[in-house]
Amino acid sequence: MTRIYAVASGKGGVGKSTFTAGISKALSALGKKVLAIDCDIGLRSLDLLLGCDEQVVFDWGDCILSRCAPERAVITGDIDFIAAPRKYDDAFSGSALRDTLGEIFSKYDYVFIDAPAGVGEGFEIAVSAADKLIAVTTADSICVRSCAAACIEAERLGVAERKLVINMFEVRPAVRRKLLNLDECIDETCTPLLGVVPIDRVLAYASVTGIYPDEFSPSVQAFQRIAKRLTGEKVELICE
Ligand SMILES: Nc1ncnc2c1ncn2[C@@H]1O[C@H](COP(=O)(O)OP(=O)(O)OP(=O)(O)O)[C@@H](O)[C@H]1O
Ligand SMILES: [Mg+2]
Repeated sequence: MTRIYAVASGKGGVGKSTFTAGISKALSALGKKVLAIDCDIGLRSLDLLLGCDEQVVFDWGDCILSRCAPERAVITGDIDFIAAPRKYDDAFSGSALRDTLGEIFSKYDYVFIDAPAGVGEGFEIAVSAADKLIAVTTADSICVRSCAAACIEAERLGVAERKLVINMFEVRPAVRRKLLNLDECIDETCTPLLGVVPIDRVLAYASVTGIYPDEFSPSVQAFQRIAKRLTGEKVELICE
């Protein structure tokens, strides 16, 4: 059965799209069929992170508006991908997205819907098209508070299963009380921890250099551990 996750955060720039790309690659490396969907209407970026920006012709908005058949919006690769529309349309909603792409979704093990920042329309579309939420935050008070608000909003929209990913984590600042520690992030968001992704400069520079961190890099290893947890495997929590 397909597992459909929205990846959301509240605050912008915490790494939702980077996480969506990373977890999609990690699950694909485990042999899972993965579809990644960009839901950041007008500000899409996942196509760049997945390296398929030049192949984008149609997006899921075109499918809802009957401008193309759903299959034509899917860019195939190790990870299949559907781009976000450039412009918002009143016809867009979570149920429209789910109804239009439902048959496509059913061909995959995992679908990740990358939500935009905030808890507005794009967030609502992403979350209500999904069954589960992965809430991404960095370990600072501002992002954690926004993440908590996003989790409450997702609950209101009927998403019962919510998990937390703490991104760009650094142990030393947390020990020195310059970042929140993991327990504080979990408590503030009332959301169980799925995993921790460390800050990784190679990952931060990847969209410019075109060099994605290798399998030994801390971020890719973190994505791999999280991917295994999603498949049900018990994996030790490691914070580099
Ligand atoms: N673990 C990490 N280590 C280092 N840099 C990271 C990490 N995760 C994300 N980044 C960097 O942080 C920036 C923001 O990431 P990203 O675009 O994924 O955030 P976002 O939450 O999707 O943003 P938006 O809210 O605008 O959609 C990017 O430059 C990205 O490379
Ligand atoms: Mg993003």
